Amino acid sequence: MSEAELLRQLDEKLRQLSVEGLWSEASDADMATYSKDPHTTVLPHVWKWQDLYDAIQTVGNMHGLDGKAERRVLRLINPAYQGNKNRRQRTTTHTMLMTMQLLKPGEVAQDHRHNFAAFRFILKGSGAYTIVEGEKIPMEEGDLILTPSMTWHGHRNGGEPVVWLDGLDNPLLFLLQVITWEAFTGGLQPLKNDADCVAPRVGLARPVWEKSPERPSYNLRYQWKDTYETLKRLSGGPGSPFDGVALEYVNPTGGHTMPTLSCGIQMLRRGETTQTHRHNSSTIYHAFRGSGTTVINGEKFDWERGDCFVVPLWSWHSHRNRSNEEETILFSTSDMPVMEALRLYREEPGEGA
Ligand SMILES: [Fe+2]
Ligand SMILES: [Fe+2]
Repeated sequence: MSEAELLRQLDEKLRQLSVEGLWSEASDADMATYSKDPHTTVLPHVWKWQDLYDAIQTVGNMHGLDGKAERRVLRLINPAYQGNKNRRQRTTTHTMLMTMQLLKPGEVAQDHRHNFAAFRFILKGSGAYTIVEGEKIPMEEGDLILTPSMTWHGHRNGGEPVVWLDGLDNPLLFLLQVITWEAFTGGLQPLKNDADCVAPRVGLARPVWEKSPERPSYNLRYQWKDTYETLKRLSGGPGSPFDGVALEYVNPTGGHTMPTLSCGIQMLRRGETTQTHRHNSSTIYHAFRGSGTTVINGEKFDWERGDCFVVPLWSWHSHRNRSNEEETILFSTSDMPVMEALRLYREEPGEGA
């Protein structure tokens, strides 16, 4: 018997034993993705504001979404993942999901909790609020609101139609197979008295008697007026060569926004172009103000106010504010805390940087 035939017979026997030789074809294909640089399936992509807003207005004019979903949510799907059969694998990047949500006046998004972390970045409208652990947190344009892992949360709206972005780490938790989700039973979660709420009554100086090892201290609301004030105050300085005047929404302990997600905001001053770099964290951006161009691996991606776009991990990228009159402000979220926690984070400046 030839060696090839012997190997074929062995492979067949091994397959029945749930074993595979490293010589098999499947392993060859897998080895081809091993190289000194990371290999990602995430594709760069821009989602246009007008397309998203038109779609959300259309579902906003409907009453019950045909009983198919409780929340008016658009999921931003990376073109690379559009063909995935399982909805949990149709995500914005391999680790993060970004969605756009509309809550109309008088509407309630029911309370629930889950172990995936989420945040809201408010784009339009006022008068809605998020309830986090009984605390009523107003949602105003440009605010960032956190609903950390396992916090009871829901949304209610007593004002105008409000549109926001949600960012979630559930693709990562799906991969780890640890996702949990539960509905709040017995109606709406009760609201705490103002005196018992952390978010509205304290800043980053916190009562020591409320510290709990199980529940790390979060800053649940980052108000736009404070964020913008800081951006303006720092705009006369050099900023970051790769990101302009860039801020991270930090946790009160000094760490990233949440254990799995970092949220940031950056100002590109009139005509500013940043230097090129790359890192092995992926970033989802939202153009909150102004317009610009991001060059990703040599390809130009133009974006205008309201657009969202993805920069996949390990892609060379630089940003440019296309206007000489207007500042540009980009909101972003990245999975960098995960890479750092696993001691895998890498970053490199481009040539000439
Ligand atoms: Fe939720
Ligand atoms: Fe970057």
